[in-house]
Amino acid sequence: MSRKNQTLGEFIIENQSSFKYTSGELSRLINSIRLAAKVVNHEVNKAGLVDIIGAVGDTNIQGEDQQKLDVYANEKFIQTLKNRNIVCGIASEEEDSFISINSQDENNQNKYVVLMDPLDGSSNIDVNVSVGTIFSVFRRVSPVGGPVTIDDFLQKGNKQVAAGYIVYGTSTMLVYTTGDGVNGFTLNPAIGTFYLSHPKMTFPKDGHIYSVNEGNYIHFPQGVKNYIKYCQMEEGDRPYTSRYIGSLVSDFHRNMIKGGIYLYPKSSKNSNGKLRLLYECNPMAFLAEQADGKASDGFTRIMDIEPTELHQRVPFICGSKNMVEKAEEFMRNA
Ligand code: AHG
Ligand code: MN
Ligand code: MN
Repeated sequence: MSRKNQTLGEFIIENQSSFKYTSGELSRLINSIRLAAKVVNHEVNKAGLVDIIGAVGDTNIQGEDQQKLDVYANEKFIQTLKNRNIVCGIASEEEDSFISINSQDENNQNKYVVLMDPLDGSSNIDVNVSVGTIFSVFRRVSPVGGPVTIDDFLQKGNKQVAAGYIVYGTSTMLVYTTGDGVNGFTLNPAIGTFYLSHPKMTFPKDGHIYSVNEGNYIHFPQGVKNYIKYCQMEEGDRPYTSRYIGSLVSDFHRNMIKGGIYLYPKSSKNSNGKLRLLYECNPMAFLAEQADGKASDGFTRIMDIEPTELHQRVPFICGSKNMVEKAEEFMRNA
């Protein structure tokens, strides 16, 4: 049984038997993500020291080139998963195509692939605002032992076995699901340990927050415009409060705790919106549904969309169930 204040390490061991497949491989994978999260957290926390330790493009005191944090995070997550020989393939926002791991090694019996957005909300880094990491895990569909194929990555979201995010905020949290609810762990930076601080997280059925980049308003479809006007109307428990950080992870995290809706619709500028199906929308949708929330593109459940390419974009509406359903109603009727 999970207890508050339990460490993430203890939690993983105690809950291993509740995973559908109990080889321990998925537990080791979550463990590696936990480790990489701590390394990236350390670097993110130093981001404000650019004047002291050097800006991107400079060489630091150890003679290492300073990197952009999204490149750094990408390397750390890939390195950690590779070194520990945990997965057979990785796809990342920062890599044009997927990476096959140890495809020559016949002893590689790894069954899982990971898809990730190593640093989400990266434009917030320079201004000391929260950023995150998002990950999604599938069982491969190609034969174990051989190289991974594109089909291992282009799976519908409803086939995910795990998904989660790390939010590097006022505290750093790792929030994830393996299909049995959503649990949140907070890092105690003094001793580098994650503790179960938010067991069984759920979206309130209704909320009072809407999160959307309203600067794009004139480019939105009529249904979205109508829904935004509905949020702003003086009626019943409305108007709702507008909150938009510009970091999906942080906006989602707040809305899950307080109740709210996040929208990144398509627009006359971006016909499929901006967010990526495979490593932004799918993992967030899995978390949302596991937390009693909902995620759709306005018409179709996100996790039922058939992916066609690695970096595909989709419109994204996600959050408290009743709010998402209301937005869908406006989309249908526009
Ligand atoms: P990334 O930093 O990985 O490119 O993602 C940024 C995403 C998402 O986190 C955020 O919600 C959205 O882009 C913000 O976009 P706008 O600036 O267009 O609102
Ligand atoms: Mn992102
Ligand atoms: Mn990113």
